Order: sequence, then structure tokens, then C-alpha cells
Amino acid sequence: MTGYFEGKVAVVTGAASGIGLGLTEHLLTRGARAVYMGDVQAEGLARESERLNNEYSGRAFPVLTDVTKLDQVAELISAAKAFDGHLDFVFNNAGMGMTLPTEQITFDIWRFIIDLNVMGVVHGTYTAIPIMREQGFGHIVNAASMAGLVPIPYQAVYTASKAAVISMTESLQYELNVEGLQFSVFCPGNVRTPIFGDLTPPPDAISVDDAADYILDEVEKKSLIIAFPQTTRDAYALYRTDRQEFDRQVAKLGAERRENYRTKGTYF
Ligand SMILES: NC(=O)c1ccc[n+]([C@@H]2O[C@H](COP(=O)([O-])OP(=O)(O)OC[C@H]3O[C@@H](n4cnc5c(N)ncnc54)[C@H](O)[C@@H]3O)[C@@H](O)[C@H]2O)c1
Repeated sequence: MTGYFEGKVAVVTGAASGIGLGLTEHLLTRGARAVYMGDVQAEGLARESERLNNEYSGRAFPVLTDVTKLDQVAELISAAKAFDGHLDFVFNNAGMGMTLPTEQITFDIWRFIIDLNVMGVVHGTYTAIPIMREQGFGHIVNAASMAGLVPIPYQAVYTASKAAVISMTESLQYELNVEGLQFSVFCPGNVRTPIFGDLTPPPDAISVDDAADYILDEVEKKSLIIAFPQTTRDAYALYRTDRQEFDRQVAKLGAERRENYRTKGTYF
């Protein structure tokens, strides 16, 4: 039986680092024929695509792309389609975290995060859908977060951006699945990537390899919401089934974060 990714052409944004790089590598391991890697980091993109091209028989094509620019995303996606005349997967993964006390979230930060985390995904989705509808197939996988499934104090801008991605992805699945298109959205808890900047990732963070493997397994199963690890699924279940207990736990988290900001200047 041919694997779901074998011989396929994929686009991954934010592919020079973290989960995007992990997805690119695991797609090649699972037999993808070409992966078009979009990222704004020229150096990381060149270095990682060269490494992957030396290690795997599939091809990694670096395309310098700013996902906040529709024309650049359209160029990335058309390059992938032109490779072999079909576009099988688009992973709209590029995004950035944001955890701050609300009084420090300026209007520019709101705009910046919405532009990147929401419009970056919109640009990939908006461009890929007409191509996939014409083909009658294609799978779009968007990056959200546990922070889009449940509310989290000190993350209002981030949760707003990720909740938008989740509901957009779900709506598109219910609208376009009848035409042969598939949509998935992945919602991780903490994954050890450079997203944490200068902070050491929290102790519960899982590896990029485990995250990429889990996401692709679930994409292959055509899961709509891909929530992981188990602690994320537990929090989401608690939010839906026992709101009183959820409120109690999140209020405790809010108090811990407030204290951490007061004493250490960071949230954990
Ligand atoms: N790491 C986690 O714990 C975690 C948890 C939940 C959700 N996520 C989500 O997963 C996705 C990937 O995060 P990560 O942890 O791998 O982060 P990362 O910082 O390691 O990688 C993000 C990549 O996106 C690229 N990027 C940033 N702005 C871009 C732009 N405008 N255009 C193109 N590329 C751009 C960066 O250069 C970087 O290579 C994000 O959407 C993030 O919100 C991550």
C-alpha cells in the first residue's frame, strides 16, 4: 500500500525552524517527492534545505517567503504546483507565540500577531483552495495551539489568533470536504522549539520529532483537530465537560503567572 505522503508535493511555511522544519524532514522520510520550504529566515532556510537534500532522496526547495504577504505565499504555492502539476499538501505552520500582561500588548503587537498567525494562514488557504478544488483533492493543515482550544490568561492576543485558525479550518472542512478537500488543524501544548526565545522551554515540552510524527500520523488519518500531547486533550475535555473545575485551574494558573511577572518578569 502506498503511504499517504509518498510521491506527494507539499508546501510548509515556517520551515526553517522548529515544528515546520520537523514536518519537512518527516514528510521527506515518509516519501514526499518535493517539499517547498517557505520562511523569512534566508540563512536558516538555505542551511536546512541543503542538509535535507544531502540526507533524503526527496527534494527540499527553499523559497524565501513572508507569509504576511499574499503575493509571496502565492509564488511559493505556484512553484510547488509547477513542480509536477499537482499540489497535495499545504502546511500553514509559520507563527509566533505571545505571552504578556495585557497592558503591555500594544496595538502594533495585536496587528503583528493577527497578521502573522491569522493572515499568514489565510494567505496559504486562500491561494491553495482554488488549485485544490480544480484538482478535486488536496489537504491543508493549519497551525493553531492548545491556546486556541481553551482560554489562557496572559495570552489574549495569541488565543484570539489561534481560535480563529481553528474555527476557520473546521468551517472549511464542513464546506469543502464534499469536493475531495481535507483540512486539519494541529493544536500542540508545549513543543521544544526556538519559539520560547531566551526562555528555557517548560519542562513538559515534547520534542519536535515526536510532534511532527504525531501530526503526520493524524493528518494521514484525516483528523480534523489534532490536539497533543495528552495534557492538551485533558485540558480541552475539562473545558467542555466541567467548566467549574476548569475555571478553578485556570484562575490558579493566572495567579501563578501574575506572581511570576511580579517577581521574575516572565510567565514561568
Ligand atoms: N512550540 C510550541 O510550543 C508551540 C505550541 C503551540 C503552537 N505552536 C505553533 O506552531 C507553529 C510553529 O512554531 P514553532 O514552535 O516551530 O516556532 P519556531 O519559532 O521554531 O518556528 C517558526 C518559524 O516561522 C518563521 N516565520 C516567522 N515569521 C514568518 C513570516 N512572516 N513568514 C514566514 N515564516 C515566518 C520563523 O522564521 C521560524 O522559522 C506556530 O504557528 C506556533 O504558534 C507552537
